[in-house]
Amino acid sequence: MKKSNPLEIQELKEQDILLLKKIEEEQNISITSLTTFSQALHSTNYHYFVAKYQEEIVGYIGISTVLDTMDILAIVVKKEYQRQNIASSLLSYILSIPNIHTYLLEVRASNLPAQKLYEKFHFQKIHVRKKYYPDNLEDAYIYELKKLDEP
Ligand SMILES: CC(C)(COP(=O)(O)OP(=O)(O)OC[C@H]1O[C@@H](n2cnc3c(N)ncnc32)[C@H](O)[C@@H]1OP(=O)(O)O)[C@@H](O)C(=O)NCCC(=O)NCCS
Repeated sequence: MKKSNPLEIQELKEQDILLLKKIEEEQNISITSLTTFSQALHSTNYHYFVAKYQEEIVGYIGISTVLDTMDILAIVVKKEYQRQNIASSLLSYILSIPNIHTYLLEVRASNLPAQKLYEKFHFQKIHVRKKYYPDNLEDAYIYELKKLDEP
């Protein structure tokens, strides 16, 4: 990615949904259902944001917020754009949303790239949910980040 063409981050639109599913399918993953994306279009608690590079959707992040706590539901980057800081840009974007003090997420024990990403942002592993994922009985790691009070 060239520095002269910055990444744009925008709230999900209805016409983006099938493209996001395609990004998942290309990697043989299924993290967010079509129904969940559609419901988020009309929700005040659930939000999905897409990253666009030169008009192409290259990734997304999903969050839900309750009071001052945000759950990070999903973060996915198109295969050919990975390792170019797109997930980092999406995470930085949601971490800049005001009035949130606690961030939580869960990640598969085998998903080392995602764990490295979260650790780079100082998330800490606080809990293990044993055999949490029904498809392969893999453990889930719960990660948390506490933001210090803003001045
Ligand atoms: C996890 C994922 C979102 C990372 O996206 P990305 O845009 O490639 O991440 P970034 O380029 O911002 O990387 C930031 C840091 O994450 C870590 N990281 C990312 N991919 C990594 C990999 N394949 N191996 C090791 N560390 C990795 C590194 O610490 C990296 O920093 P560095 O490049 O300075 O070493 C991407 O691999 C992906 O879409 N995976 C499939 C979906 C998924 O599993 N999502 C998480 C669960 S919802």
